[in-house]
Amino acid sequence: MRELAAGLLSPCPVDPGRLTADAERGLAAVARFREQDSSLPGWVNLPLFNRSGAPDDYTLEAYEGSARETPLCAELPAAAELVRWVADQGLSVEVARLAVLEPGSQLRAHVDEYDRLRLIVTLNEDPAFRHVLGDLCVSFQAGELWAVDGHTCHGAANLHPHRARAALLIDARPESSRLPDWYASCWEVPPARCLSRAPWDEPARATRLAEARALLEATPTTPELSPAEAHLLSAPYSFELDHSAAYSSLVDFCRELAAEHGEPTWSERAEFWEARACRCVPLEAAGA
Ligand SMILES: [Fe+2]
Repeated sequence: MRELAAGLLSPCPVDPGRLTADAERGLAAVARFREQDSSLPGWVNLPLFNRSGAPDDYTLEAYEGSARETPLCAELPAAAELVRWVADQGLSVEVARLAVLEPGSQLRAHVDEYDRLRLIVTLNEDPAFRHVLGDLCVSFQAGELWAVDGHTCHGAANLHPHRARAALLIDARPESSRLPDWYASCWEVPPARCLSRAPWDEPARATRLAEARALLEATPTTPELSPAEAHLLSAPYSFELDHSAAYSSLVDFCRELAAEHGEPTWSERAEFWEARACRCVPLEAAGA
């Protein structure tokens, strides 16, 4: 594991303005998907490079050979150019994706299931587009090339009320990559990218729990991430706590409700979250 969970790497060779233009076209592409399927979650990935070149091939399993371009590369030429540059630099690119995070949505925090070298380039920027990796809470700027360590529990949230975030995720194979100096050297996080958060003290915790209870009254539990649960899990994007502490507070919340109501549903939900804390497993898996 790296000393830092993320690092801003060498200057990106592609003009940030062109990447921002790609962001608009990428958001439009996802909006077209939403018109066809309104049940899509707030976190949507579309492949730019994958095993087959097929636009509907979302598989992330390891394979051998060169990644193929999907038709989305023609729509996002600057992002595609950046992926080709990364490959030319020596990284064995396996998958590259456009990742859109809708307003108010979060990517549930997890440790990566697959061992990959992960690069992230945010295509549009806003201080409300946030990543929390371990103790770090950072906001990337458009066109910056970042590396992240998937062994650290990490997640992302879009706290903006109406802007969607678009990012390019590039995964490369650790075993067959030739690491360029800009990746292999010491990672750094510029202080200007770190966001200050409020202390997670007793008043903050009590307020957050009261807000979650208010959300519970409006929305009963669901097999998926309910608004009350999402509110507790998103605390690390505004307060100084890490994801494992947020999962613990969610488990405690469920146990408190179980004690109050004297029925098994909330005890089961506490076990559900204990089994999924910082784990990259589908919420609809057995036991949900
Ligand atoms: Fe991840």
